[in-house]
Amino acid sequence: MKRLGILTGGGDAPGLNAVIRAVVKTAVQVYGCEVLGFRDGFDGFLDPEGVIPLGLREVRGILPRGGTILGTANRGNPFARKVVIDGREVVEDVSGQIMEAIRKQGLDGLIVVGGDGTLRIARELFDKGVPVIGVPKTIDNDIGGTEITFGFDTALNTATEAIDKLHTTAESHHRVMVLELMGRDAGFIALHAGVAGGADVILIPEIPFRYEAVARKVMQRVERGRAFSILAVSEGAQPQGGGQVFSRSGDEIYLPRLGGVGQLVGKYLEEHTSQETRVIVLGHLQRGGTPTPFDRWLATRYGAAAVRLAAAGGFGRMVALRNARVEDVTLAEALAIPKCVDLEGDAIRTARGMGIFFGDETQ
Ligand code: F6P
Repeated sequence: MKRLGILTGGGDAPGLNAVIRAVVKTAVQVYGCEVLGFRDGFDGFLDPEGVIPLGLREVRGILPRGGTILGTANRGNPFARKVVIDGREVVEDVSGQIMEAIRKQGLDGLIVVGGDGTLRIARELFDKGVPVIGVPKTIDNDIGGTEITFGFDTALNTATEAIDKLHTTAESHHRVMVLELMGRDAGFIALHAGVAGGADVILIPEIPFRYEAVARKVMQRVERGRAFSILAVSEGAQPQGGGQVFSRSGDEIYLPRLGGVGQLVGKYLEEHTSQETRVIVLGHLQRGGTPTPFDRWLATRYGAAAVRLAAAGGFGRMVALRNARVEDVTLAEALAIPKCVDLEGDAIRTARGMGIFFGDETQ
């Protein structure tokens, strides 16, 4: 193994730099191998300035930094890329160009650090012959085949801190605070932060809720002398018989953008309870900041394991945490079914036992 490539794609997550650092240190120090970084996901292969040689000097000091020194793109799908031809925007498949650029770089392996979308592209490229290794990244924790993705723990810390802060002001003003959290179609951030922060109501995509039931829970608390309530609401939460709420529709390039369910819940509670309500959207704060020690630890283990996997020729596979050990699974297995909250697992039972309400009727 003489030359490895690495790119980061999709939405950023704290810990990306820790992966890059671990890849470079392991490749250089253990295998005497050169590493090339590609800027802004797969776009780096289309740009003459898109490649950066990464040595020990380039990765010095980046371990605690959020974001990614390589940049990222969440609309850089080589199989569907928007290009302007004769002043008209068209969607083109430029994967042939990417494959040619990868071949020209003489890579013995390409480490792709990404979430669901980026890893799907990696898998398609693998099917066409590119020696790809996947590293699972996302604050949503929704990738199959692995117990956890790096970035999730940092987002969870930020979300829990927000709930803690909302508690004191909610209690002082006897208000309802609705905190909308990220997570796409998986409720992990809201569930874990809601339990860790002692939320009264948690709404997640996996459990469709009823507005009336949520309002009743808030009023029950008021009747019991608890004149404030904290709601942790996943952006993907949906009312029974209704659909998810989007702030922007999707097209061939962009996924539809979730957002707005918190406002709808807040408005309903203002109109149907006696309680004053405020809505807070935590948004991209969940993606920023320095990674927690857990995320740095996991990201470092993933990066080092990805290089070892490349050296062993384990292409088409993704590093993964299973039974607390870093192992690897095929990209096909990881991408087969997106991970979501297990409704039969102990987490939901525990939360219900704590008196947390999920907006359904079974309290
Ligand atoms: O997948 C990570 C994530 O932060 C989701 O939780 C959220 O729905 C989405 O990305 C936001 O994406 P963007 O960066 O395009 O606003």
